Amino acid sequence: MTRILTGDRPTGPLHIGHYVGKIVPTLAALEHADEAYVMVADYHAFTTHYLEPLSVRDAVEEMVIDYLAAGIDPEKHVVFVQSQVPEHLELAYLLGALTPVSHLERVPTYKEKIQETGRPPTFALLGYPVLMASDIMVYRGDTVPVGDDQVPHLEFTREVVRRFNQAYGFDFPEPQPYLSHVPRLAGLDGEHKMSKSLHNQIDLRMSAEETEARVTQMVTDPQRVRKSDPGRPEVCPAHQYYEAFVPEEAEDIATQCRGAAVGCVACKSRLAGRINDYFREHRARRAEIASRSGYVKQVLHEGGIAARKTARRTLDEVHAKLGISRLGH
Ligand code: TRP
Repeated sequence: MTRILTGDRPTGPLHIGHYVGKIVPTLAALEHADEAYVMVADYHAFTTHYLEPLSVRDAVEEMVIDYLAAGIDPEKHVVFVQSQVPEHLELAYLLGALTPVSHLERVPTYKEKIQETGRPPTFALLGYPVLMASDIMVYRGDTVPVGDDQVPHLEFTREVVRRFNQAYGFDFPEPQPYLSHVPRLAGLDGEHKMSKSLHNQIDLRMSAEETEARVTQMVTDPQRVRKSDPGRPEVCPAHQYYEAFVPEEAEDIATQCRGAAVGCVACKSRLAGRINDYFREHRARRAEIASRSGYVKQVLHEGGIAARKTARRTLDEVHAKLGISRLGH
């Protein structure tokens, strides 16, 4: 029995780095899932975007459109929004009861986010991994497609699961990450990972023309000044993109680059065409799904009902075992 739970924070449009790092492994994992829950983690978005609640709202629907366009099928899998299933928060509270603060302070993303936002850490930011553990546990998820940055959160989840199982005699599975074969994509600046906050990304919703313009701006090997200089594909984001989107051409272009047989302009122009080929169908499906009035809302409505049904069952079991009475039931 394979039960999948995965999610993304709706803090902005998904980019092509998410696609290869997260959506592609999710699709692979879904192929052999008995049951799967794909969630837009809007409460998790509030850990950093609490002053822009409407930006979170707008990003939710866009994210679902990308999920569906990528081929996540709401007829087979439950696609839903985290805030529509309050059971996640109920279980998170009980998990929090047996989680030492010192363990939360050790989670690497906690310190990173404090640095990134420059704001004083909040209760919700510290508790982020507890809610994530709860997201997974309410569905008894055992397989969690994620980007490699999420591995510490999964490790933390397994710890929580063990502690909870041991304390109360449950048998929640210890979930394992399901990772992409493609390493996290570099951004167009060639210096950092692809990220919306650094403006070095190509969004899935960008047109072919926008994509081409973005690829053209990409920073290539800084030591390669003239076309006759030999290039170093290993430090060039263009090479990484070839490997991610057209692996069959990656070696050939790298050889040409090293031998100064192709210039950066031509290399990037060819790459832009390949990326556009890769996403041609996705874009068409995206436009088609976005044009169906009320469709996404309907998917999320039905997904919310289905998710809640499973989550409620788990919470009822937990409450029963912990002697938490529900008067009137
Ligand atoms: N933390 C994940 C991220 O930032 C999003 C997320 C929230 C998630 N809850 C989850 C992923 C549960 C997997 C399972 O990408």
